[in-house]
Amino acid sequence: MNIPDIIIAIDGYSSTGKSSFAKIIANEFSFQYLDSGALYRGVTLFAIENGFISDDCTIDVQGLDAAMESLDLHFGQEGTYIGERCIEKEIRSLEVAGKVSPIATVAEVRDFVDRKLREFGKRKRVVMDGRDIGTTVFPDAELKIFMTADPMIRAHRRAAEMEAKGVKADLQEVLANLQERDRIDSTREVSPLTQAPDAIVLDNSHMTIEDQMEWIKGVISERFGC
Ligand code: CDP
Repeated sequence: MNIPDIIIAIDGYSSTGKSSFAKIIANEFSFQYLDSGALYRGVTLFAIENGFISDDCTIDVQGLDAAMESLDLHFGQEGTYIGERCIEKEIRSLEVAGKVSPIATVAEVRDFVDRKLREFGKRKRVVMDGRDIGTTVFPDAELKIFMTADPMIRAHRRAAEMEAKGVKADLQEVLANLQERDRIDSTREVSPLTQAPDAIVLDNSHMTIEDQMEWIKGVISERFGC
């Protein structure tokens, strides 16, 4: 399938499989995949390790904002990095998951991440997943997908994914975390998680990855005539 140089924005609730879907889209159509959540998780790890967020999630916004000026957060061979250090495993921990949504409410953090994402977007042929890609980061993205799925099914998927990576997971804790993140993400003031009016909804509760691929090929061929 020969699809034009477009930006594909995939937004939606926590653990709906946005990143798995985005990765196979990137693979199938030779697009570049960008995980915006990994950048929010990276800033969160940085904030935890440098004392800018307390156990009760009080954030030293000024301190964090100043420190981000020299934060070299980027993607590399094995995923997400701070400088030379690969942080891919640490950013998937429940500790980071528990603090990332409060960190993502901070306008200065969102500016920091948005600047990086828009830089990547200049290249086109990009598929990006997150919460506000189709609404704020790339409101002109040519294809927007909004993903949702039953919360319990999402918790099972995320727990299995964590176990596979060697991170311990308790199902009830995972479920509570993703529901709490959905709540914070949907109600925050800056760029809340909302469905863009021109986004197509995909509820993948009972779909396999193959089903999703069939679905998107249908959408693309209808939309772009290829
Ligand atoms: O993969 P999962 O659904 O667990 O989340 P993620 O994509 O890794 O994102 C982690 C958190 O970052 C989300 O719960 C949001 O609080 C925040 N985020 C955001 O605010 N905006 C984005 N574009 C992406 C993530």
